[in-house]
Amino acid sequence: MLKDIQIGGLRGDLLQVIEPKKTFADVILPEKTRRILADTLIQIEKHRLIFDTWGLGERHTTGTGLVFNFTGPPGTGKTICAEAVANLLVKRLLSVRYSELESCWAGETSKNLVTVFREARQQDMVLFFDEADSIASRRFTTTNLGYERQANQGVNILLKELEYHPGVVIFATNLWTNFDPAFQRRVRTHIVFELPGAREREMIWQAQLHPTKTPLADDVDFHALAERDEMSGGDIKNAVLKAAHMAAAESGLDYQKRIGQRHFEEAVRQVIEAKRVMAQHPYVDDVDAEHGAALLELSTRVQELQQDTESLRGQLEGLRAEMATLGISLPDVTKLKGDDDGNTQH
Ligand SMILES: Nc1ncnc2c1ncn2[C@@H]1O[C@H](COP(=O)(O)OP(=O)(O)O)[C@@H](O)[C@H]1O
Ligand SMILES: [Mg+2]
Repeated sequence: MLKDIQIGGLRGDLLQVIEPKKTFADVILPEKTRRILADTLIQIEKHRLIFDTWGLGERHTTGTGLVFNFTGPPGTGKTICAEAVANLLVKRLLSVRYSELESCWAGETSKNLVTVFREARQQDMVLFFDEADSIASRRFTTTNLGYERQANQGVNILLKELEYHPGVVIFATNLWTNFDPAFQRRVRTHIVFELPGAREREMIWQAQLHPTKTPLADDVDFHALAERDEMSGGDIKNAVLKAAHMAAAESGLDYQKRIGQRHFEEAVRQVIEAKRVMAQHPYVDDVDAEHGAALLELSTRVQELQQDTESLRGQLEGLRAEMATLGISLPDVTKLKGDDDGNTQH
């Protein structure tokens, strides 16, 4: 259930208050993801016990927030899980499209963030930042070799708010984000949402229908559909709706209409085709999951190598200084020649 609201003059398409209806029963997830989510819920449930009753909140006033990052490709269930978390906590979900907030309100971002956090606190809502990739990575920009800290007021305010916000905050990000280390420190758990395998896809197909009211033809075979095409849960949802439209639009009496396998097959074809076209569009940031994951791995490795290099350089400088005090000078490493066995010669 969506309800548009006006908070502190912010437009309804930037944020929504959601009365949660989805539960974890509506979400099909691999066992591992489900376990991590269950653990997250225990952390939320026991937060009061640990930080109030056991007094640890008085000993540690910062960095104790309930901040979680749901990360994964589009259509993998991040939004419904955020809704399910709020549902379980019997709270409403304040969903903020950060990407939009930032682009539409340049200069106002900081003020709006403060408003959003305050509202979530006062009305005791779970705060959900959807499309939050830019938050996670914005403070850093890649220059030739290193990373340069960029002044970004919005993100600095966000980090500050996170530090003291008492409620649950959930971010949704795509897999290939370079996380700002300061953001990383405030996130208690990163939960990775993966694209579903064939078995999960079959269950998602089933879950998208009404258990009794959706009329299906006898030839419908979700196992075959799930085996044949790799799709996200979001793709499957779109295909189901498309198939229903096709079946409903056919001539004949409504009560005799059924959604058949050919409707589903055609719908799948259209959804896949639409995605292919989108992927060719230069402005689409919807890189497919496989490439996204590879990109993340590469960029993480590059960061690690940069850090290693920095640390080795530091050690070398240290050694050089130490040896200088002893009156020994190190040969310039760039002048050393190595043979094929890696032995160095002068
Ligand atoms: N794991 C899943 N189980 C069941 N349905 C799913 C799943 N993933 C996606 N869906 C369907 O796709 C729709 C879009 O998913 P959503 O939660 O918005 O994905 P994300 O936020 O990761 O982009 C959901 O409303 C749901 O119908
Ligand atoms: Mg979403």
